[in-house]
Amino acid sequence: MDEIPEALRDSPKNKQSSRQLPLFLIGFSLGLGMLAIIAGVLLFRSPAKVPQKSAATVTPTPTTPAPTPTSEPVENVLGHLPYEEAPESELKAITPDGRIRMRLAAAEAFLQLQAAARADGVILIPISGFRSVREQNRLFFEVKQQRNQEASKRAEVSAPPGYSEHHTGYAIDLGDGRSPATNLSVSFEKTAAFRWLKNNANRYSFELSFPPNNPQGVSYEPWHWRYVGDRNSLETFYKARELKQPTNNSQSR
Ligand code: DAL
Ligand code: ZN
Repeated sequence: MDEIPEALRDSPKNKQSSRQLPLFLIGFSLGLGMLAIIAGVLLFRSPAKVPQKSAATVTPTPTTPAPTPTSEPVENVLGHLPYEEAPESELKAITPDGRIRMRLAAAEAFLQLQAAARADGVILIPISGFRSVREQNRLFFEVKQQRNQEASKRAEVSAPPGYSEHHTGYAIDLGDGRSPATNLSVSFEKTAAFRWLKNNANRYSFELSFPPNNPQGVSYEPWHWRYVGDRNSLETFYKARELKQPTNNSQSR
């Protein structure tokens, strides 16, 4: 060190330090730049990966949507026929509280039938009359969901919305006032009410819609009767059946 003149000794030091500073800055900047690039890459990559991942996990959703009471396709399972809703203006109450209604001609015929049964000591209780497609929708899908039933199983006891005779205002479900335990059950056929209906309902233009082994393949419903006492009701039920005939044949039911 002593051999080197001070001037010379200083200058390289000075030069070195003056050169080292920018180099350090360049290095520092490069380091920062690299960090920024890495951070940038990470930042850009991670959000890109998130949708990719979620897209991968979500992928089945659009193809297999979660079932909701109204999302399942309504099919004419078990041969139910399509029926139009009776107009509100043509509905008449058949119970004192007004909750059960039928189409005018059917309502009048039913009240006569009920009075005749009463005179014979039989108490006929209306359980259900006119039902809108909206009400049937709830009845079919909500109960189906509650009972964890398949559509075909549910359709054995309840028509899909748009396919219930109750939409027409001509159909009625009846119970025996002395045997409420048999309501909406096949055991209703053992009641005095059913026996009376079998012997007398035709006189009031009512018939059993779904006898055992009916051509539609609907379960036997001894409680479900329909009015066929005027042109509109006859056409409603028998034209619907004729229109359905070719499909029935092709399905060889
Ligand atoms: N309960 C019968 C199937 C109907 O609603 O038409
Ligand atoms: Zn019914």
